[in-house]
This record gives sequence, structure tokens and C-alpha cells, in this order.
Amino acid sequence: MKTLLIAAVTLIVPFVTPAAHAADDAMLGEARKVATTLPPKLLASLQEEIKKSGPEGAIPVCKDMAPKMAAEISQQTGWKIKRVSLKVRNEARAIPDEWEKAALEDFDKRAAAGESPAQLEKGEKIGNEYRYVKALPVQPLCLQCHGPADQLSPAVKSVLGKLYPNDQATGYSVGQIRGAISVRKPL
Ligand code: HEC
Repeated sequence: MKTLLIAAVTLIVPFVTPAAHAADDAMLGEARKVATTLPPKLLASLQEEIKKSGPEGAIPVCKDMAPKMAAEISQQTGWKIKRVSLKVRNEARAIPDEWEKAALEDFDKRAAAGESPAQLEKGEKIGNEYRYVKALPVQPLCLQCHGPADQLSPAVKSVLGKLYPNDQATGYSVGQIRGAISVRKPL
């Protein structure tokens, strides 16, 4: 019986796998495209707003504009989009679930072992969904709001303290992983 089962599996698997792989590859490509739409837009808005009104004035870009942009991309693409982190600033939005948490922990390990943070991603079919996460590396600009607490401007510190009394998202340095963009879509 066992041998028969193995024989059946070896017969069927070669036919099933290539098609499944092709579908997964297509979803991976789509997920990657969706996930890479938001960060450059956000970065451009942050840069512009910081220039105009300082880092404290740019906080609404991360607080209000980022979720709005994510919602727009969701509407256009059908993918749900969020940002998650192991050290959250916004507890209402950014706490990772088990799958995201495991991916973020793996990203940290791989970055510590020398992999480039910008390349870190994971895509997987889970149940009836395709899920994908892509690491968001800390760049010099991010430090104005996510750097070591004693290096934030008093104005930034004051606004962040009021908006996020349990803020854990400071103390980062360039090249670390601040979090990830997480996207998902029903298959
Ligand atoms: C002007 C200040 C500011 C700058 C600059 C900034 N952030 Fe943020 N960031 C915030 C605020 C405020 C939040 C909380 C947003 C919210 O309420 O959802 C946040 C949230 C996040 C989150 C969501 C997870 C969480 O902890 O809530 C990620 C990921 C993130 N930032 C990454 C970055 C990266 C990467 C950069 C640099 C490219 C950056 N940020 C630059 C202020 C900033």
C-alpha cells in the first residue's frame, strides 16, 4: 500500500508542481510590484515635507499619508497592504502576526549574517492566500524620527511622545531593518 502510494505520488507530483510553481512565481512578481510601489512614494513625500517644515512637520506623512497611499494601492490592485515591525510605533496598525513576525526575525538574522537588507523578501502561499513581505531598511533620512532617542530633535521627540506614548521605534542605525511592507491577496 505504502509503495503504491509513493508510486502514485511520484507519478502525479511532476505534473502538478510546474504549474503550481508558475502560479506562485506570477503571484510573487505581482506581490513584489505592489510592495515596491509605496516606499519610494513615501520617501519622496517625506523628503519634500522635511525640507518644507522640518522632521516634526513631516510626521503626518508617516502617520496619515502612508496609510492613505496604502489604501489607494489596495483599491487599485486588490492586495491588502500594511507596514509591520518587531518594534512598533503605532500599536494599532503595525503589530505583526505570527507569519510576519517569523519573517521579520529571519530578515534580522540574515542581515546580521551579511545579506543586503534591501534584498530581503519572502513570498508564500498560505491557505487560500498569497502573502509577501519585503524588508524596509533604515536609511539616513529615517534617523530623524527612528534614530537613537538622544539624537532626535526636541520638537520630534515632543510630537512623537504625545502621539505614541509606547513608541518602541527609536534607536535604529542605518542598514538595520525598521520593519516590512506586508501584502496579501486571496487566491
Ligand atoms: C518625519 C518622521 C519620520 C521619518 C523621517 C520616518 N518615519 Fe517611519 N514612522 C513615523 C511615524 C510617525 C510612524 C507611525 C505611523 C502610524 O501612526 O501608523 C512611523 C511608522 C513607520 C513604520 C510602521 C511600523 C510602526 O512602527 O508603526 C515603518 C515600517 C517605518 N515607519 C519605516 C520608516 C523608514 C524605513 C523610514 C525612512 C525611509 C522612516 N520610517 C522615516 C515617522 C517617521
